[in-house]
Amino acid sequence: MVEPFHLARLPIIHFGKRKRELLPDLIKRYGSEIILVTGKRSFVDSPEAEKLFRTFKTKSIRYHHVTVTGEPSPSLIDDTVKRFNDQPVAATVAIGGGSVVDAGKAISAMLYKDDSVRDYLEVVGNREHPGSKVPFIAVPTTSGTGSEATKNAVISQVGIGGFKRSLRHDNLVPDIAVVDPELTMNCPPDITASAGMDCFTQLVEAYLSEKSGIMTDSFATEGIMAVKRSLVRSCSYGDDIGARSDMSFAALMSGICLANAGLGAVHGIAGTMGGMFGIPHGIICGTLMAAANEVNVKALRSSSGNHSALTKYASLGKIFCEEDDKSDEWYIDAFLNRLNEMTIQLQLPGLGSYGLATEDITLICDTTDIKNNPVRLTPEDLAEIICRRM
Ligand SMILES: [Fe+2]
Repeated sequence: MVEPFHLARLPIIHFGKRKRELLPDLIKRYGSEIILVTGKRSFVDSPEAEKLFRTFKTKSIRYHHVTVTGEPSPSLIDDTVKRFNDQPVAATVAIGGGSVVDAGKAISAMLYKDDSVRDYLEVVGNREHPGSKVPFIAVPTTSGTGSEATKNAVISQVGIGGFKRSLRHDNLVPDIAVVDPELTMNCPPDITASAGMDCFTQLVEAYLSEKSGIMTDSFATEGIMAVKRSLVRSCSYGDDIGARSDMSFAALMSGICLANAGLGAVHGIAGTMGGMFGIPHGIICGTLMAAANEVNVKALRSSSGNHSALTKYASLGKIFCEEDDKSDEWYIDAFLNRLNEMTIQLQLPGLGSYGLATEDITLICDTTDIKNNPVRLTPEDLAEIICRRM
């Protein structure tokens, strides 16, 4: 029998090569005046941007350009909203990496409201977002967060008392996602690796989550197979459109999965650590992935319950290994070995190189809140995960 499930809303998705060319007509469905959010460089400096701006002119689309560096802060969102609160904006369009898409999502959610975005952030604020927003189109240029398919925007304030929290509402899922893998081809190898590992972590954590179900498992499995085929290759051969396409697809699947099944230990730690120390999200996820899964498996093997999670770990091993007729235990170990190999192959840096010190670990572990992990981990387990990747 198919177990009951719930799948939250999805954007209208246009996926594939040259789908970016649909963008002007998609914008025109909403009107002629938009806020365009991009990063400071890569896309803006590319011939693609020049072409797009020319088409905007031909189609009489007026755009107010906002650029974003790093993960969006509350003040970036509030200042941008103030700037445009008396303008008739028909839509917000974000073309860029995960931070750019999150910034665009938050701007579209806060436009024409007088409050600060802080008031609506989980834990930090005390108000629920009403779900009203300006139409939002997401166009990712990296394959990582899957923000083009999620209902949350991550807002960060770095430093003492810093946080990394979500603005979240079912209505904040982008209205349209234009996922064109050709737009990721200029992404440099180190960003391709860290973003790809973020997406891989999201797929695996959602697959193992206590909230996973038949739909999210199907999406996660397809995404993980694409990661197996193409994550390492897309870092070494950035102009391989097949590999880029696999990773764009995997990132999209990871967004759908995390929005519906939640995430696990790595993202719990990344939320705390990212807010306190400003270490890029993809680096934290990528570097902790192997260690966190080893600690998860150790905890699962020594506990009496939840053998379904170990069966799922064995299924992950089967995706990554060619061998037939091995035991579940063999496949689980093979999966963990493959994660360790990927950590080396992708040259994922240790956290010490980002200024994290051993004495910071206790505070991180004591303040980390982990939801949906397949097994309960203690602060000591979390410390072990981080210590292994200093
Ligand atoms: Fe993530």
